[in-house]
Amino acid sequence: MRERFRVVGGAHLVGEVRVVGAKNSALKLMAVALLAVGRTTLTNVPAIADVTIMAELLRRLGVGVDYDAAAGVVVLDVPERIGHRADYELVRALRASISVLGPLVARVGEADVAVPGGDAIGSRGLDLHAAGLEALGAEVHVTHGYLVATAPRGLTGAEIRLDFPSVGATENILTAAVLARGTTTIDNVAKEPEIVDIAQMLISMGARVEGAGTSRITVHGVEALAPTEHAVVSDRIAAGTWAFAAATTRGDIEIVGGVADHLRAPLGALESAGCHVEVTDRGFRVSAVDRRPRAFDVATLPYPGFPTDLQPFALSYNAVADGSAMVTENLFEARFRTVQELARLGADAQVDGHHVMTHGVPILSGAPVESSDIRSGAALVIAGLVAEGETLVSGVHHIDRGYPRFEEALRAMGAEVTREPDDEPPFA
Ligand code: UD1
Repeated sequence: MRERFRVVGGAHLVGEVRVVGAKNSALKLMAVALLAVGRTTLTNVPAIADVTIMAELLRRLGVGVDYDAAAGVVVLDVPERIGHRADYELVRALRASISVLGPLVARVGEADVAVPGGDAIGSRGLDLHAAGLEALGAEVHVTHGYLVATAPRGLTGAEIRLDFPSVGATENILTAAVLARGTTTIDNVAKEPEIVDIAQMLISMGARVEGAGTSRITVHGVEALAPTEHAVVSDRIAAGTWAFAAATTRGDIEIVGGVADHLRAPLGALESAGCHVEVTDRGFRVSAVDRRPRAFDVATLPYPGFPTDLQPFALSYNAVADGSAMVTENLFEARFRTVQELARLGADAQVDGHHVMTHGVPILSGAPVESSDIRSGAALVIAGLVAEGETLVSGVHHIDRGYPRFEEALRAMGAEVTREPDDEPPFA
């Protein structure tokens, strides 16, 4: 059943919100568990549908998976013999499934992983993943919609340089190299906190990994890894969402469990725009109660630059902030679906290639809008909070993928947001 949020405008979000482990780390760490026979425990796992899909994918590989969503714990029991196929049905539902590629080639010497179809945020290749595994000695080809990688005699360390610091490619090459013979160096890697999280888990399993969080990772291969217990790193994108929610609604939110250090670019921008940002004992706090913050220019970049996943929130913010500003998307094509929906709410925003120019208006005007992905959906809900009247945000299943019980968190901070059945047909 389709659902929508009914959002009543006019709230200033005030209070506190708790942020748990990152979706984009938890899913990858579940795949990392494949590297060791035995029981691995992950804690601080978010209660979202994507974890259930990843659990199903791992079960089909022969892994015992026990997911206690309320407790935020996943226990993975990995047998000696595991399968090597990730079906299209699951990869299509969860693009992060591609992260089983590296661990499977390393553990089993073979992986058949469906090539994900195009999704709502632009095309994303797998060429860097494939080139990295080939450099480690795997044979890689695409057949009948599956990326097939084989390394019957195991992988061998190599010197690899990525043309672009892809998060997914860095992960798959790293998780393959840990069991390769000899030393691997990977240059121009992604530096995201989620990469550091994976490296820390690998190290606790007995892997020899150096340099995660810098542009060069060195891996000295080991024979085998051991299961471990690991807490998922805090979700910086969820935390950043709440930071923008506070700034956009001119509220005051303490983001408990948030790590300000992982959000230097966005929090720095909000601070320069007139918001108050403060690190607290439990996380950090963002407020903008005393004045209308200024619009600011943003260009998305790989970490530590401004995250592309927060770009829709910068658009909602600039739509009502004081002045004109430009948002530039450098990572994905066609990631501007939020703009046409914001325009329906009365935002003054024009797309020009990979730029969006906005001229802030004091208040938006409620209307029905449609989410196209996790982040745009959440950004539209925030826009609805600064719109006069009611905004109906369709496609709530997108929002549920990234934000456990989003509406409850909003209500606890004074918003009027309700979930209801959506009888309108989805727009084409
Ligand atoms: C991850 C995140 C996603 C985030 C993105 C960038 C997960 C599940 N998703 O996605 O939320 O927006 O990082 O921070 O963690 N590319 C290639 N060839 C490749 C790989 C990537 O050309 O082999 C290109 C893509 O088309 C894209 C860019 O590199 O334009 C970034 O992709 P990448 O960093 O790999 O993002 P993901 O890991 O897919």
